Amino acid sequence: MIDVLIVGGGGAGLRAAIAVAEQDPACKVAVVSKVYPMRSHTVSAEGGAAAVIDIGDTLDEHCYDTISGGDWLCDQDAVEAFVAEAPRELIQLEHWGCPWSREGDGRVAVRPFGGMKRERTWYAADKTGFHLLHTLFQTTLKYQDIIRYDEWYVTKLVVDDGRVHGVVAVEIRTGRIETIPARTVILATGGCGRVFPFTTNAAIKTGDGMALAYREGAPLKDMEFVQYHPTGLPFTGILITEAARAEGGWLINKDGYRYLQDYDLGTPTPTPKLRSMELGPRDRLSQAFVHEQHKGRTADTPYGPVVYLDLRHLGESKIDSRIPFVRELCRSYQNLDPATDLIPVRPVVHYMMGGVHTDIDGATPIAGLYAAGETACVSINGANRLGSNSLPEILVFGRRAALAAAEFARAHRDGEPRAVRTQGEDERRLLEREREGRRTGERVADLRERMQHTLEGAAGIYRTGDVLAKAVDTLADLRARAEEVRFDDTGVAFNTELLNLLELRTMLEVAQTIVACALNRQESRGAHQRTDFTARDDDSFLAHSLVHRAPDGTPSVGLLPVTITRWPPGERVYGR
Ligand code: FUM
Repeated sequence: MIDVLIVGGGGAGLRAAIAVAEQDPACKVAVVSKVYPMRSHTVSAEGGAAAVIDIGDTLDEHCYDTISGGDWLCDQDAVEAFVAEAPRELIQLEHWGCPWSREGDGRVAVRPFGGMKRERTWYAADKTGFHLLHTLFQTTLKYQDIIRYDEWYVTKLVVDDGRVHGVVAVEIRTGRIETIPARTVILATGGCGRVFPFTTNAAIKTGDGMALAYREGAPLKDMEFVQYHPTGLPFTGILITEAARAEGGWLINKDGYRYLQDYDLGTPTPTPKLRSMELGPRDRLSQAFVHEQHKGRTADTPYGPVVYLDLRHLGESKIDSRIPFVRELCRSYQNLDPATDLIPVRPVVHYMMGGVHTDIDGATPIAGLYAAGETACVSINGANRLGSNSLPEILVFGRRAALAAAEFARAHRDGEPRAVRTQGEDERRLLEREREGRRTGERVADLRERMQHTLEGAAGIYRTGDVLAKAVDTLADLRARAEEVRFDDTGVAFNTELLNLLELRTMLEVAQTIVACALNRQESRGAHQRTDFTARDDDSFLAHSLVHRAPDGTPSVGLLPVTITRWPPGERVYGR
């Protein structure tokens, strides 16, 4: 039987697989991924990975930036562990071959990043995720014993008596449905940006791991905190990395004015390089965009209002050496050259601060079930993640979850319960019935679009109780309709219609949790801004949202205290 089964082949999943293989060659480890691992969304991360390296920097400063950036909703014990382990992880990657960019004297180069008061973001030009994922993937190849299920989609966790015993999965190429027994499971499937219409996230980011855990009784945490990245290309939503602003890019409105000077955004910093209003935290920058729009100072395009990112003053050679991918993306997808043209940009859904509730070692309340990376909420990101904290997060917590899971597997060497066979057979029957097709009903794509626009309208940059309450009803209705959709493809090979249907149902459940948590949190904090409750309310809401699936399938929201260790709640101060 597999000891550690990892669902997801991106950065967190591969880091976990390596950790198990390295630590205990006798431990049987497998990675199930719905895409070939190198196609996981980690590959598209651009700007960099934060970890203290500079002698002027300290672990405490990285902790403080993370905690204040997260508007005091981070668990501080988790942040302390994260910040302490991040440098070791990035050095480890270097040893495995990650080509970090260097300074002229050979030291690893670091750049400033939004909300970080020191330069601590390591980078590989602006293709950091690409190099990081390659490094991890190639390192897994050293370990011949890592079993891979490439292009398999997990439809269910087998959970019996409060403990996980494996998964049921479909091989996308053949349609084969298999139960894979395992002593532990680590969910590392990434986030769920695709519940929104306009996102930097790959089409595969449909919240699979979140829904798998939630359906079996594990709570999700802080789902209302959705990060908008201030600079996405209109229409495609492709990310224009924050590194462009770190290298000196400006944000200007339609009048050519650096509008951020009108907002409380600059970063108070010890070095002149960091003294840039463009490097404020993402929540505040995205909110400033909305205010500019209301003042009539954004430009209209067929794909919505935009402001502009101005890189022209950086010059071609800096653009080509530090942010070549930005130029490549602008040329290919926007038909412009940032060395000579302004880049139209607007805020775009980028990251979920919330996810499966775990402890500091990735353990969920279901015995043997772990989660890591964007799927999980440990929580180090609180109400607003700082850019460049997520790549080290997947490494640190991928490894921690792996070591904890391997330990659990060693301590639980009992055989397979009957539930593995019975639940596997039930799930197979359900999937086969689905594949018989249905000639009536609505299309998956139509329901998906409706869901995405409901989320954008209700749970966007600014929210209000009335609209959220309506979204609760709309999503419940869409969920019922998603049980009866029209379904034409009755084949087994590459049945992407079935996959899309399963993903839709997954996204609808996750979307319900986002809206329910946003409705329940009657305050404004970080990325969650309520126009009807505009102040942060520590008396009532210095707490995580914890959402369980009630027996009738609806979300039930409660609160959980935040862990404060050394940094009592304070004001988030920028630019004074
Ligand atoms: O802008 C960026 O490169 C994004 C980085 C991140 O989300 O960490």
